[in-house]
Formats: sequence, C-alpha cells, structure tokens
Amino acid sequence: MTQPLRIGIAGLGTVGTGVVKIVRQKANLLAARAGRPIQIVAVSARSRNKDRGVSLGGYGWEDDPVALATREDVDVFVELMGGADGPAKAATEAALAAGKDVVTANKAMLAIHGQDLAERAETAGHVIRFEAAVAGGIPVVKALTEGLAGNEVTRVMGVMNGTCNYILTRMEEAGLPYEDVFEEARQLGYLEADPNLDVGGIDAGHKLALLAAIAYGTQVNFDAVELEGIQQISIEDIRTAANMGFRIKLLGVAQMTGRGLEQRMSPCLVPADSPLGQLQGGTNMVVLEGDAVGQIVLRGAGAGEGPTASAVMSDVIEIARGTRLTTFGQPAHGLEIARPARASAPAPYYLRMRLIDKPGAMAKVATVLGDAGISIDRMRQTRHDDTTAPVVIVTHKTARDALDSALRYLPGTGVVQGEAVAIRIEDV
Ligand SMILES: NC(=O)c1ccc[n+]([C@@H]2O[C@H](COP(=O)([O-])OP(=O)(O)OC[C@H]3O[C@@H](n4cnc5c(N)ncnc54)[C@H](OP(=O)(O)O)[C@@H]3O)[C@@H](O)[C@H]2O)c1
Repeated sequence: MTQPLRIGIAGLGTVGTGVVKIVRQKANLLAARAGRPIQIVAVSARSRNKDRGVSLGGYGWEDDPVALATREDVDVFVELMGGADGPAKAATEAALAAGKDVVTANKAMLAIHGQDLAERAETAGHVIRFEAAVAGGIPVVKALTEGLAGNEVTRVMGVMNGTCNYILTRMEEAGLPYEDVFEEARQLGYLEADPNLDVGGIDAGHKLALLAAIAYGTQVNFDAVELEGIQQISIEDIRTAANMGFRIKLLGVAQMTGRGLEQRMSPCLVPADSPLGQLQGGTNMVVLEGDAVGQIVLRGAGAGEGPTASAVMSDVIEIARGTRLTTFGQPAHGLEIARPARASAPAPYYLRMRLIDKPGAMAKVATVLGDAGISIDRMRQTRHDDTTAPVVIVTHKTARDALDSALRYLPGTGVVQGEAVAIRIEDV
C-alpha cells in the first residue's frame, strides 16, 4: 500500500480535537480520497492529562510543540494552538526548517508573519496551507486560489466574524443595547479572551488581509487594513437603519483601485434584502467578484469544531494527494507590497445627529454638507424631545474625505448636539 501521510498535531482545543475525531472516524474515506492513509503519529498540548473527549491512544506525546514539529516521523505539522507569535510561530518555523509541510488555522500568525513564513516555506520547497484560518468551514482560500485563478478579482467582501454578526443580529431582534448583548455573548463563550479581537474588528481584519493577498497577488499587509469595530453601534442606529430597509454588518471589503489597495473592515449598512443583509447570527458570508465569473456568494459556519476541522482536513488531504500550491497563490518572493489606499471610493452615507430645536437648524446642516459637495438623498426626523430632534440623513454618493470635512464643520454650526454618527452604505 502507498505510504501513509504522517501528521503531528500541536493544539488539542476546539479545532485540534475536531481534527482528531475526523481522522479516527473517517479513516477509510480519507484514505480513499487522499490515495493513501492519513495517520496521526503524535500530538502536543499544554496539559497532558486533560480529558478531551476523544481517545489519544496510540499517538506519541510531546510537551514541546517544537519537538513535535521536528520529529523524524512527522511529514506534516498541523499547528492549531493559535497566537501570532510564541509557540505557534516558533514551531511553524522549526517545522519548515526541518523539512515539513505545515497546515494551520492561525490567521493572526499568517496576517502578521505570512510573507516571511511563505518565503521560508517556498525556499525550502515546502507548503503552508491555511484554509481554516479564513471563515472557518467555508472553502474560500481554495475558491480564490484555485477556482477563480483565471479571473482578475474586482472585489472581495465578507462578514467574517460570527460573534460580531451574532451581536448585531441579536440587538435588532431583541431590541437590546450593545452592552447587554456583549455581556450575553461573553456568558455564552462566544468572545475571545481579548474581546477586542472580535468586536474591534481585528480578527476579521486578519482574514481580510489574507484574502486580499491572494486576490491581488500582493504581500499580506494587515497594518494597512482600516479597522473600525462595532462598539459604537447603538440600538438607535440599528432600528433606524431597519426602518429604512438596511441592516448593519461588520463588513470587510478589499479592492484594488487606481490609487492602490483598499482594505477596510468596518460597520456598513447593506440592503436588508441582499444576501449579506439576510445573514443572521454567527454565520459567515464571503462575496467574491471576478471579471470573468461575476459574483460568487459563499455562506456557512465560520467557526466551531466541525467546520474548522473540516477545513484543516481539506488541506491535509490536498498535501496527501501531492498537490503543492504556493502559500498565496503566487511565488512569495515575487510578491510586492501594494500601495495602501485609504478607502475613498465614493459611497452613500447614513448620518445620524441630534439637532437643537431652533429655527434654521436643518438649513445650517444642509449648508455644511452642500459646501463639502455632499447632496442629500433622503432625510428623516424621528422622535422629538423638548430641546432636540434626532435627524437621519442618507447622502448621495460622496467621497469619505468630503464627508470627514463636513463632519469637522458640523460642531461649528452650534445646532448639532454631541457627535454625528456616519456609517457607509455599501453597494452589495
Ligand atoms: N475555534 C474556532 O472555531 C476556530 C475557527 C477558525 C480558526 N481557529 C484558529 O484555530 C486555532 C486553535 O483555536 P482553538 O479554538 O482550537 O483554540 P483552543 O480551544 O484555545 O485550543 C488551543 C490549544 O493549544 C494548546 N496550546 C496552547 N499553548 C500551547 C503550548 N505552548 N504548547 C502546546 N500546546 C499549546 C492548548 O493546550 P491545552 O488544551 O492543554 O490548554 C489547546 O489544546 C487558533 O489559531 C484559532 O484562531 C479557531
């Protein structure tokens, strides 16, 4: 029989135990698909005695993931510990230096060190695959790298953090403020130990940077992603947006423009009846647009044991079959850093502000917008108290710079109480 592919797994948490289960439960199916058996030879985690709900019998054990990564009898090092640096990076580098291929689910490590690791791998003639790092079970890395290889990619968009989508959906459904739903999500165990990775848009930003590198043939550049989280989204904005036929999503968009590569992860209004607007709860969605293919919509579980382990296994099987792809779909040494472009492609904006109730207040706001070259599409005044009136304005398409300039002048009118909220309306 053909030689088995021997894997070593570092990290036996949610994803690692999921991978062990698939290898144990589907050995025949995997061998048939891969053309050779997939065999776990050894594993590593922090605590050897923890009950992980799966048998580890028959596998070697290493306390040190670097020792696992460099074992003679390991062909593929499967890194499922997490963290941009520390043991994940040390063990991945050691594996590549020791002549192993690497499979990882670690978006943080790849978003920051991906270029260096890809160069190391390709210099040594090895591969790094990372399907599970972006949108969990959705095979979006393979879709972009292989399925759309004949296209010029025109735009990549995605809702890629299930926790943020859960929070925004739940706020709308239950009419609860952000703080209450955030606490609920924490109690349900949906948030990372550092919640800012989720609600600050960082985790989703890592994923967007990886997709942009593949889509546009550029070095992964997470530092250039414009990041804005969902912490400022109020129940008032969610309600008002819903009344106007929109939903608010933490949306990632990457597109190459004449000015350079735009990468932004920020709350956006999308039409409630669009595929992205319909996305509820913890599900992820990635929208890919290519010049030949048009638009493709991929939807599915972005996290969890089964979906993420499914993606890890797709990479393991790819290697077992003998398919050897470059990390980002082109040789890493040839990749250049794209000029980062601030996201300034014109778009309509939603503006919410509280106007002091005195004659001419609205006219003053309209003048500031008009002076900045911004025209108003729709305007609505909602509930009114004794002294102020909440006003919502939807602008026609305008450049972000023009909007920022108007926002700077609004306080000087003396008729706007507090800060105006501005949210981009994405054409999806
Ligand atoms: N969970 C998801 O749904 C999901 C989705 C997509 C991508 N990912 C990515 O997949 C990776 C793993 O995530 P996870 O949710 O499975 O994490 P997790 O449940 O926290 O598990 C992490 C595992 O790594 C082990 N570990 C940590 N430090 C170690 C060290 N120094 N030496 C050896 N082992 C060490 C831990 O050991 P102990 O168990 O002994 O503590 C644990 O088994 C991360 O990169 C994450 O971003 C996760």
